[in-house]
Amino acid sequence: MPSTHSRLATVIGTAAALLVLPAGAAFAWLHAGLYDVSASSKDNPLVAKMLHSTYEASLHHYGGHDAPPADLMSLDNIRAGAHTYDANCALCHGAPNRPLSAVGAGIQPAAPALLAASRRNNPALMFWVIKHGVNMTAMPSFGKTQSDQTLWQVAAFLYAKRGLSKTDYDRLVSAPGVGNVSQGAAAAGAH
Ligand code: HEC
Repeated sequence: MPSTHSRLATVIGTAAALLVLPAGAAFAWLHAGLYDVSASSKDNPLVAKMLHSTYEASLHHYGGHDAPPADLMSLDNIRAGAHTYDANCALCHGAPNRPLSAVGAGIQPAAPALLAASRRNNPALMFWVIKHGVNMTAMPSFGKTQSDQTLWQVAAFLYAKRGLSKTDYDRLVSAPGVGNVSQGAAAAGAH
C-alpha cells in the first residue's frame, strides 16, 4: 500500500537525517580545525570525563588478568623497580619533593602522582597499564621495550612504596642496582 510505503520512507528518511546530519556537522567542525588540540590548555571537561571513564572501563575489562611472579614483593624486585621508576617514570609521574621535568610539566592530561599515599596501585592493574600504555595520552607502552619481569618489578615498587618520603626514595634509588643493573646504571648516571 502506497500510504504504508510512504510512511516507512518518511521514518527511514528521518532516522537517516537524524544520524547523518549531526555526524556531518561534527565532521565539518573537526575538519575546519575548530577543536583546540593544544596541550597548553586543559581538555574540554566533557571530553576529559569521557576519555577518563573510557580509560577506567578499558583498564578493568582488559587489565588484571596477568599472573604476577611468585616473588613479586621481594626486596630485590622492589629495589630494581625503584631504579626503573627513577630512570623511566619519574620524569612524568614525579618523585617525592622533586620538581617535575619539563616533559612532565608540559603534558596534557598530566600524569598522576603514582607514589601518593592515597593511591591503591593494584599490581596486576598497574602492570597492564605499564605494559600497554594509554592511547591518546603521553603514557607509553613499556611492553615494547622492557621485559615482563622489569614491569612487574615497577608494579611491586609502586604498590609497596606508596607514600614514601624523599629520604627513603633517594636511599632506594641510590642503593646498588639489583636485578635490573642497566636501569640502575642509567639512574645513577642521570643524577
Ligand atoms: C611521557 C610521560 C610519561 C612517562 C615517561 C610515563 N608515564 Fe605513566 N602515565 C602518563 C600519563 C599522562 C598518564 C595518565 C593517562 C590517562 O590520563 O589516562 C599515565 C598513567 C599511568 C598509570 C595509570 C595510573 C592510573 O591511575 O590508573 C600507570 C600505572 C603509569 N602511568 C605508570 C608508569 C610507569 C611505571 C612508568 C615508567 C616505567 C611511566 N608510567 C612512565 C605519562 C607518562
